[in-house]
Order: sequence, then C-alpha cells, then structure tokens
Amino acid sequence: MIKLPWYLIVLHLCLPIGGTGAAASNLRPLHYNLSLLTEVEPLKLSGNFSGEVVIRLRVWRETRTIILSCNGLQVGENVLLVRRNTGGRVTVRKMWQARSVHQLGIVFNSMLWLGEEYTLVVPFSGQLSRASGYFVGGYMDSRHHQQWIAVTQLAPNLANTVFPCFENRTFLAPFILNLAHPRGTNAVSNMRVLKTSDHEKDDYIWTTFQQTPAMSVQKLAFSINRFTNRTSAEIPKGPALTTWLRPKIADQGDYAISITSQIIVFFISLFGKPYPAMKIDQLVLPDTAYQSHEHLGLVSYPEAAFLYSAQRSTTRAKQQVASHVAHEFAHHWLSDLENAALYWLHNGLSDYVSGFAVDNVEPAWRFHELSMVRQALGVLVKDSKGSAQPMSLAYASMSSDTQANQKSALLFRMLHSLIGTQAFVNALRLYLHRSHKGSSFLQACLWHTLQEESDNQMSLRQDIKVSQLMDSWTMQPGYPLIRVVRNYDTNEVTVSQERFLRNPGKLMQKRQQCWWVPLTFATAGIDSFVSTLPSEWLTCQGRQSASPLILNEVAQPDKWVVFNLRLATPCRVTYDERNWQLIGNALSGPNASSIDRFTRAQLISDVLNLAGAGVVTYDLALNFLRHLRNEDEFIVWQAADKYLEWLHRTLRQTTIISTFKGFMKDLMQTKFDELFKRDGPAAENGNITELMVIVLQLSCRTDLESCAEFALKEFASLTLETNRIPVDLSETIYCTAIQFGTEADWTLLRRLYTRSNVSEERRILLSAMACSRENWALEKLLNLAFAGRYMPKNDVLLIFSAVAQNPLGYNLAKKYLVDNIKAIIKLYGSNTNELAQLVTVLMKEVTTEEELNALRMFMRTDLQNLPGFETAFRRILELGEDNIAWHTRQYHNLLAAVCNITGSIEPQCIY
Ligand SMILES: *[C@@H]1O[C@H](CO)[C@@H](O)[C@H](O)[C@H]1NC(C)=O
Ligand SMILES: *[C@@H]1O[C@H](CO)[C@@H](O)[C@H](O)[C@H]1NC(C)=O
Ligand SMILES: *[C@@H]1O[C@H](CO)[C@@H](O)[C@H](O)[C@H]1NC(C)=O
Ligand SMILES: *[C@@H]1O[C@H](CO)[C@@H](O)[C@H](O)[C@H]1NC(C)=O
Ligand SMILES: *[C@@H]1O[C@H](CO)[C@@H](O)[C@H](O)[C@H]1NC(C)=O
Ligand SMILES: *[C@@H]1O[C@H](CO)[C@@H](O)[C@H](O)[C@H]1NC(C)=O
Ligand SMILES: *[C@@H]1O[C@H](CO)[C@@H](O)[C@H](O)[C@H]1NC(C)=O
Ligand SMILES: *[C@@H]1O[C@H](CO)[C@@H](O)[C@H](O)[C@H]1NC(C)=O
Repeated sequence: MIKLPWYLIVLHLCLPIGGTGAAASNLRPLHYNLSLLTEVEPLKLSGNFSGEVVIRLRVWRETRTIILSCNGLQVGENVLLVRRNTGGRVTVRKMWQARSVHQLGIVFNSMLWLGEEYTLVVPFSGQLSRASGYFVGGYMDSRHHQQWIAVTQLAPNLANTVFPCFENRTFLAPFILNLAHPRGTNAVSNMRVLKTSDHEKDDYIWTTFQQTPAMSVQKLAFSINRFTNRTSAEIPKGPALTTWLRPKIADQGDYAISITSQIIVFFISLFGKPYPAMKIDQLVLPDTAYQSHEHLGLVSYPEAAFLYSAQRSTTRAKQQVASHVAHEFAHHWLSDLENAALYWLHNGLSDYVSGFAVDNVEPAWRFHELSMVRQALGVLVKDSKGSAQPMSLAYASMSSDTQANQKSALLFRMLHSLIGTQAFVNALRLYLHRSHKGSSFLQACLWHTLQEESDNQMSLRQDIKVSQLMDSWTMQPGYPLIRVVRNYDTNEVTVSQERFLRNPGKLMQKRQQCWWVPLTFATAGIDSFVSTLPSEWLTCQGRQSASPLILNEVAQPDKWVVFNLRLATPCRVTYDERNWQLIGNALSGPNASSIDRFTRAQLISDVLNLAGAGVVTYDLALNFLRHLRNEDEFIVWQAADKYLEWLHRTLRQTTIISTFKGFMKDLMQTKFDELFKRDGPAAENGNITELMVIVLQLSCRTDLESCAEFALKEFASLTLETNRIPVDLSETIYCTAIQFGTEADWTLLRRLYTRSNVSEERRILLSAMACSRENWALEKLLNLAFAGRYMPKNDVLLIFSAVAQNPLGYNLAKKYLVDNIKAIIKLYGSNTNELAQLVTVLMKEVTTEEELNALRMFMRTDLQNLPGFETAFRRILELGEDNIAWHTRQYHNLLAAVCNITGSIEPQCIY
C-alpha cells in the first residue's frame, strides 16, 4: 500500500460527498416553490391543507419515471412536467402510490433527457395531524376563547407528509414558500416575509417569504398563529431576533429573551463564525408533540422549556431555561452540517459547549461543571443496562435518543479535560471551517482536527490517538468499571477494567471489551484535584484485549487513594476493601473536603450502584451513606438521592421498609435540624439553597416527623390569594401536606392549579395532588390527565407517573391504562414513543414475576400493533427484569446490612 503524506489523508477526510454517490438517483431537485393553503376548524382543532409544489429538477440519468417521497397525501390529477429550455410539455402516462414505502411514482410517455432541466408541478392535499409533520395545537386565550396554532416539524423524516418532495438529506435546494392563511393570523418561517397579497377567498391572505439558501427539505419550517411578538435590540454582527408567544404568558418570556442575544454573541465569538442567517424567530409553543427544534432562522420551544416566572418558577427551572436556549443556539452552528447519522455527535458537542454559554451569561451559578457531573450520574445509571447500545448506532431520531446525546457530551468533556481549552477551542473552529455540508466523513474529520491541535499543544501522550480513544467509547455499548487493587506490602497498585452491568447475571455472551481510559488519582496530603491531566492510561491492544496496569509508589499504605478525579471520565471505580475503608475514614473525618466535591459525588454514587450489582457489600454502601451527615455539597446529596429514590420505591412493599426508613431518619435528622430549625420559618430567611431542597425532600420521603410538621405548618399559611411558601420548597411541602391533608386541602391545590398561568407551577401542583392517599383524588387526577385536549402530553405523563409511584396509586394507574387503552391510543394519535413512556412508568415499579407477566401480556395484546413498538418492547421489559433480578440476588444482602447497621430487633432481622 502506498503511504500517503498525512495532510492528504486529512484533506480527504474532510471532503464532501462528490459526484460518485449521485449515480444512485436519477434526478436532483434544484429549486422548490411551495404554495400551501391551511384551513383549520377551530372547535375541532383539526384541519386540512392543500397546495401545489413546483420543483425544478435536473436529470442525472435518463428515465421515464420520477419518484417522489409522499406519505399520506392525496395527489391531484393535474401533474405537469415542462422541459425548461424548449417549454415543451411531457405528458403523464400513469401515476402510482406505494403507500407502505411512502412513494409517489409518475411515469411519463417519453424519456427525460440526461442533463436537462425540467419543471414539475404537483397539486396535493392532506390533513393536519399530530402523527404528521404539520399539526394543530390548541390553547385558551385570556378571554377563555379557544385558539389554535398550526406548526410544522419536518425533521427527521416527515417532510413527505406535508408535500411531495425528494426526502434525501443530501439534496440541498433553495425554497420559496407561499402560505395562504386566515386574515389576522401571523405566518412565520425560516426567512423574512417578502410580501403579502390578496387571496381569492376574502378572509384569507397570501404571505410569500424570501428565498431560503440551499438546504434539505427537513430544514423547512413554518407556523400560522395568533401570537404576539417581542423584538429584541439589535445584536452586533448578529441576526435580528424576534420571539413569538401567547399574549397571556408573554411576560414570562422576558428572561429567556434577555439571555438569547447574549448567548448568540457568545457563540459568534466562540466559534469564530457569524450566525448562519440574517434573522431568527423564536416560536414558543403551548402543547406540542415535539421537543425543541432549531431550523435555519427559526427555533421552536415548548413553553415549559422557555418560560420563567420570577415569582413562581424554581431556581432549577431558570437554569434549565438558560441551558435549553444555549443548547438550541449552539446547535445552529453545527446543524449546518447536515448528517443525520452523526446527530448524536453534533448534539453532544452542542450540549457540551452550551454550558460555556450559560457560564458566560450567569457566572454566579458555576453551572457547566455541575450540570455535566449531574448528567454523568444519570448516564452511568442508564448505560449500565444489558441492552445499552453503542452511541454510534443511535439513529437520527432527533431528541428522542437523549441517552446517546448526553453520553456524547460527557465524552467531549473528557476530551476537553485531556487536551486543554486552547486545543479544544481551536479544533472546534477549524472543524467548522473544514467540514462541508453533506460530508459523510465528519466524525473522522473531527477527531483528526482535535488530534492536530492536541499535537500542536503536545497535550496528549504520544501513543494516545484521539480517534482510537473516542472510537473505543462511541462504538461500544456501556462503559468500564475500573478495579483498583492495592498490595499494601509491595506498595503496588493493579488497575484493570471490565464492562459494568447493573444486572451482571443477564448478559449471556459476555464479550470482552476494552476502553482507552485516562487515569487520574490523588492521595491523602497530595492535593491534585484541580488538574485532570492523566498521569497514566489504561490502553487496549486490539479492541478486545484489556490488560491490567501496575503502578508503583502511588500512596503510602496508610493513606487513601481515589481515582478519576472530578468524575472527568464517565466510568465507575471500585477499590480493594482496605482502600474503601481508608476513603470512608477520610470522608467521616474533619478533612473530608480535601477530596473534591465531584469526586465525593462519584464515590457515593459508585458505592451504592456497585452494591446493587454485587461488586461491593451493602454494609460498605450504608456506611458511606452515613458520611452524608457531614456533607454540605448539594451535588453529593444528589448523587446519593438518585439511588435512594429507586431504593425507596422498590422496597416499599417489603418487610424491611420501616427499618430502612429508620436508618434514613437517623441519617436525615441532624441535617434537617441544621438547615430548618432556625428562627422562624424558612420562607422568611430568604435564601433557599439547593441543599435545602434536597434535604427537605429526602427527610419528608423517609417520614421524618419534624419534616412533616414543618411542611404542615408552612402549608397552613397557604390561601388562594397569598402564597408565601418558597417556590423551591413548594413541591415537597405541598406533597407532604396532601398526604396528611383533608379534601379541602386537595381542592385548594386544584383551584390554585386552575388559576395558575405558570407551567412549572402547574406541574408542581399536579404532582403534589398525586400524593393524596384518597382513591377519589387519584381517580379525579387520572381523569383530568386523559380527558382534556389541552393537557400537554408531558403533563399527562407527569400525572400518570406521580400516581403510579404513589404506593396507593399503582394499581389504580395500571387499571386505568388497561381499561382505557383504546381511547388513550387515539388520544396519542399513535405516537408510540409517548405511549411507551406510560408503560415504562408502570414497569419501573415492577418487583415480581407476576406483575411482569401481567404487563407483558398487556403489551402483547394491546400495543403490539403500534408502529415501532417492537423495539420499545424489549427495553421496557428489561426494566422489570432488572428489578426482579435485584430482588432475587441483592435484597437479602441489603436486609442483612440494614439490620446490622441499625441493630434492629424487628422480626425480619432475626433469622
Ligand atoms: C441520497 O442520495 C445520495 C446521492 O445521490 C445517495 O448516495 C444515497 O444513497 C441517497 N440516500 C437515500 C437514503 O436514498
Ligand atoms: C410559485 O408558484 C406559484 C404557483 O404555484 C406561482 O404563482 C408563483 O409565481 C411561483 N413563484 C415563483 C417565484 O416562481
Ligand atoms: C377537511 O377535509 C375533510 C374530508 O376531506 C372534510 O370533511 C372537512 O370538513 C375538512 N375540514 C376543513 C377545515 O376544511
Ligand atoms: C410584530 O408585531 C407587530 C404588531 O403586530 C408587527 O407590526 C410587526 O411587523 C411584527 N414583527 C415582525 C418581525 O413580524
Ligand atoms: C398570571 O397569574 C397571576 C396570578 O394568578 C395573575 O396575577 C396574572 O395577572 C396572570 N397573568 C396574566 C398575563 O394573565
Ligand atoms: C487534615 O489536614 C491537615 C492539613 O492538611 C493535617 O495536618 C491533618 O493531619 C489532617 N487530619 C487528618 C485527620 O487527616
Ligand atoms: C442570600 O444570598 C445572597 C447572594 O448569594 C447574599 O448576598 C445574601 O446575604 C443572602 N441572604 C441571606 C438572608 O442569607
Ligand atoms: C455488620 O457490620 C460490621 C461493620 O460494618 C461488619 O464488620 C460485620 O461483618 C457485619 N455483620 C454482618 C453479619 O454482616
């Protein structure tokens, strides 16, 4: 093989797809002119559209047939094809629609000539629906009149439900869009309005938009609405920014609108590249079936992700708004690189860099690191399932594959920590500069660019290659468990790796896997938590052979060692027993904070999850939980809480639950007193910290008496008119009060819910109402969830899972779903993903074979025929199976440990 100089390789890897692939299709669209009339029946929230698409195309291979992508549309008879340079008309012989493959074929009487341009005109019509790319949503305006909004979401593959087109993403063409819509409504799209003109119907007008740059059909977006608009001040060298929202809640958009401009300015400077469009419209949607999405010149958000009320939203909600907006905008620069198969890569990168933007607009939060560690704690749990998929296989399912996107972000964080900021930012800019639309080599191009910059800065060890490193993390499922075993006589440390599985018995064909793992560590007295530059690496000879590494002189035998500082690499770490003890001693001593807070978060999360998988004992895990008594960092508590929440739920039908709660009460009492037994109610002390939020939640969940007292006292002050309960604490306070409360209390919340116009407050009230111990209340709530057309689907899910997680509500929720499944399927318009989430909620609570079989049966009979349910089926079942496996293998270990640590003499502890 001829060896190419390196620069040729790099150039090749960054080239777009050339002419070679094009032979695969006969025709290429050059230009679209789409005209569409939208008619809505406001009372039914349904409607139709009809129109005509004029496609200019070029023939790449002689053919008689034009095949367009077309899904659920009616196509008119008057299809017209004109040869452009002669003006001659080509007559249609016949047309066919292959509905299952979403194709429309038009066969002509004569051949279309190679290289010639033709103009094709296709009339069509269709129905607005939630299952398609163009749908109607409804809401009540401030005068309680019903209003509607029509909006598109063509990505990833629904453009063909709105007009016949060439769906192939590599086909880029400019669009002219003409929308006919009722007078008095606004039409918004990717581009600025060019002109408006009269329609033949008096009560309609035409809006014509400027021509878009060449883009794929999935990027097209438009909406017809009666929103109000807010125009932002001019952004230097940036696009003109307008935000569209419902008039009634427009003031809640102020926060997001105010940071949007700053975020855009930040990214222009970070990426060293101007914003890719002249204007940007933000569309804030009441109930939508979809997540946020950014299109060229138009971003859409669900209201819950954009709105913030200074009085009635939590601090957490504010952070989510900022991070959400930042994420959408980061994506604008990267999404220009149209490549669906790499969606996880670009989305992860956007996710990672968006944190910098948030730190830039809200420096006091120190948000970025914190949110990444929080994300890591979640990913480590989800990615430990036996069914975990390699990220690189995550299909372009847009936001639905959050798991892959989140893991991808963590890997960029890891890489950043390895090569340093200078190299990382330089590489990012260079990548945007080099990469081309439609390239299929983007992934390799990105790794090469990062490699080059890291070589320039000499930041990676010579034998470590970025692509090899990243491929080992992106192309394999799961992540490693790092085993650290110290020999206290020879002072050697052996470090090895294996895949971590939460249910280790499950995976039949245990394939050996190997990851390239940077190793950082610290020991007592050597304060090295600031730097995350690795001192050593676990390497792989070939993809599958992982050999252990032996380190010398890491620490003195009587000193602790911890690995993976600041949780920089998304993996779990376990130690030999003595080292665990040494760490435990350090955590309970006065110098606990000499171990950095993110590392402490990893330690507690690891020890609990490792106990669950049988890697360490529950005796050890419970001892580590006790160290929380000294813990003042919210993130460490949160790391524990993630596991404790599950433990609480899975234990609630068992005999150990009261003893376990006794252990937890003992743990929580000191902390609770410290934070809440101050002078006067917490509300008047001003600052509510995140630590207070989580401690209150855990205390009340374990039925700590003083917590219930506190909650009831605070709740007593609540009336319809005045609410002095701190918003951040309100969820726990309401929920606890409702558990002990009367019908009047429940009705009060119900009224507050009806009145509230802040979506987060409404969600808090809904989940609190589900804490009731009364059947009638839970039934009412389920009816509320599924009866109303205006209930956002996210809130339906919220209610349903809150009821199912209530020990008294599980059977009720299950019965409701089973009894009403036909109607519910209809309500969801066969949106399988959203429906599957409801079953997932039930499956998460399963602890016995019997319950598992009942649910399996239900899915088989009632859901099997939903499109795409087959893949969800296995994933859902696994949740129940893993729970059952835990009960079979680990429950008695936990029982023994709880009995041991509490010294309980309850009957279940004496055997
Ligand atoms: C899209 O078009 C390209 C170039 O013509 C071709 O290589 C590719 O196979 C097409 N993709 C699909 C999904 O048809
Ligand atoms: C687009 O098509 C409509 C009719 O389908 C036509 O009236 C209009 O002139 C066309 N616009 C352009 C720029 O070709
Ligand atoms: C939409 O079309 C259906 C059938 O084609 C018709 O029954 C209905 O009235 C139409 N709706 C509107 C709003 O035009
Ligand atoms: C915003 O609304 C006002 C008043 O309805 C209108 O005059 C203006 O053109 C709108 N702005 C944009 C960018 O459409
Ligand atoms: C939203 O609700 C609050 C409290 O119920 C009320 O004071 C406020 O006027 C409402 N805002 C709008 C725009 O209706
Ligand atoms: C705590 O740290 C201080 C200063 O580093 C050290 O002098 C002391 O011995 C440490 N205490 C323990 C119990 O390790
Ligand atoms: C609340 O926090 C702010 C800033 O974090 C601080 O300046 C203020 O003193 C705190 N107030 C109270 C009552 O603790
Ligand atoms: C009880 O806990 C202690 C200390 O954690 C441990 O040494 C002992 O082995 C445990 N006993 C049992 C029966 O698990």
